[in-house]
Amino acid sequence: MPRTAIYPGTFDPISLGHVDVVLRGLKLVDRIVIGVAENIGKGPMFDLQTRLAMVREVFADESRVEAVAFTGLLVDLAHQYQAQAILRGLRAASDFEYEFQMATMNRRLDESIETVFVMAREDYTFVSSRFIREIASMGGDVSSLVPPAVLPHLPNQQG
Ligand code: PNS
Repeated sequence: MPRTAIYPGTFDPISLGHVDVVLRGLKLVDRIVIGVAENIGKGPMFDLQTRLAMVREVFADESRVEAVAFTGLLVDLAHQYQAQAILRGLRAASDFEYEFQMATMNRRLDESIETVFVMAREDYTFVSSRFIREIASMGGDVSSLVPPAVLPHLPNQQG
């Protein structure tokens, strides 16, 4: 049975930090299913289908990565894809509290699914989708923070 991890997130939009987490995760498992969450509560800049399309475009050439949209519980998505693990990236200590709560909640919902954290490359420690949206909206250049496929979707970019 292939080792599968779910990599969940809002991906509003997908950043180079996210890509780095996926590439590191591929060293640990056979297949990664990227779960793009609807997350209406976060008031995303991009609608779900656009966020999904961007993720799919970024990993179009990687046969071990697929991307799906999801609206329910993460553990239900993990069951659907027979995943053994949930993959998440950790940047700074400030991520820890939120990640710790989520991992603990998910473990309470299903003890058999392990949350695995990887650290993205140092260059991406301070990259977040929130700052990418903000900088792009205000006319700043985010070309070093997002995959080339994402650039044309952002405001004020040359891509
Ligand atoms: O990129 P984000 O916004 O940090 O990702 C958050 C995400 C999608 C991982 C989280 O909101 C999530 O898992 N949503 C699905 C709903 C769920 O399962 N909630 C219970 C776990 S705490």
